[in-house]
Amino acid sequence: MELPSSLKPCFLLLFVSCLLNVSTIISQSLKQEDVLFGGKFQALYVIGDSLVDSGNNNYLSTKVKSNFAPYGSDFEGGKPTGRFSNGKTIADYIAIYYGLPLAPAYMGLSEGQKNNISTGINYASASCGVFPATGKQLGECLSMDAQVNYFKETIDKNLKKRFKTKQELSKHLAKSLFMIAIGINDYVFLYNKTIDPNEFADKLLHEYMTQIQRLQRLGARKFFINNLKPLGCYPNFLARNVPSGSCNEGANLLVSIFNTKLRKALAHFKEKLAYTSFLYSDYFKFMLGLRGPSSNQASSNLMDSTSPCCPSVYDGGQYTSCTPDSIACKVPDSHIFFDPFHPTQMANFMYAIGCFQERRVCKVV
Ligand SMILES: *[C@@H]1O[C@H](CO)[C@@H](O)[C@H](O)[C@H]1NC(C)=O
Ligand SMILES: *[C@@H]1O[C@H](CO)[C@@H](O)[C@H](O)[C@H]1NC(C)=O
Repeated sequence: MELPSSLKPCFLLLFVSCLLNVSTIISQSLKQEDVLFGGKFQALYVIGDSLVDSGNNNYLSTKVKSNFAPYGSDFEGGKPTGRFSNGKTIADYIAIYYGLPLAPAYMGLSEGQKNNISTGINYASASCGVFPATGKQLGECLSMDAQVNYFKETIDKNLKKRFKTKQELSKHLAKSLFMIAIGINDYVFLYNKTIDPNEFADKLLHEYMTQIQRLQRLGARKFFINNLKPLGCYPNFLARNVPSGSCNEGANLLVSIFNTKLRKALAHFKEKLAYTSFLYSDYFKFMLGLRGPSSNQASSNLMDSTSPCCPSVYDGGQYTSCTPDSIACKVPDSHIFFDPFHPTQMANFMYAIGCFQERRVCKVV
């Protein structure tokens, strides 16, 4: 695997010590005009799924939770928070890069806290997706529509108290960053082989862009759009595929059809609307890249790119979820995957380097 040069010392020394000074590593004495996507954001609002959930599912009636050890073992204080990783998520690294506090989970905030926060809120909810039905088989979660509804409530009930004039409120929203990372669960829960891939992607995109448009009408102007992950290179596909460890190219193609349409739709949307811009993050390509030169080779010799840290034992059937009783690996950051569906903090950190420092992953549309 080709490592970013700035990370090489991390693998020679201790993983964790390298993560302590992330903000200085990422934004080392950047001049303001060199900050990706302008910067100077007043807030980070997050709409998404488990990749970026910072604890909303803790407050919902669902089996899909991560508020127990070994989750959070490398988070501040070594505590589980409801993040689906051993440490920070990519939304956390975005906040750090732009000098903002980590966006707290909306469901965990009191009315007093909601009235007092103007640096951003996280509405992301594990297992949910763009279509309202997605993920509900496993319990409650917040669909994209529900998340945008809560954001509207934040404006109406809370931000309007804090920003007294219409102009002040519009300025705050225009100077906020809206991160969107959702849609893969729609494939996981609702797609099957009897459905035409193009039709499914079109319907999903229509619903997705409807919500982007709602946010735009509410006042959002700057979007950070994270595309869908290469599902076929995740542990359960890798374990089942022949030869073992190779990606399921069919699953990857399915997802990439949506990603291609999404990128085009954003460019089109931007042309229609003044003062709206998108940073398109090619998370699909980034995650493939972690595997090494060929997606069909698990060729990383520095990080385990096929098996999750938790559970660390494969029973030959499929990797189930990471539970409080699971046996976890000793060094999470020597893996790309913390559990069968989510990356480790190290993978998330490498994403931040790829996006903000090397500028390979994120591009302004
Ligand atoms: C409001 O936020 C400020 C700054 O984060 C904090 O110092 C203060 O304690 C908060 N007040 C309430 C009532 O939560
Ligand atoms: C596939 O999805 C369609 C549309 O949701 C549904 O009507 C059909 O029953 C599903 N087929 C299978 C085999 O799950």
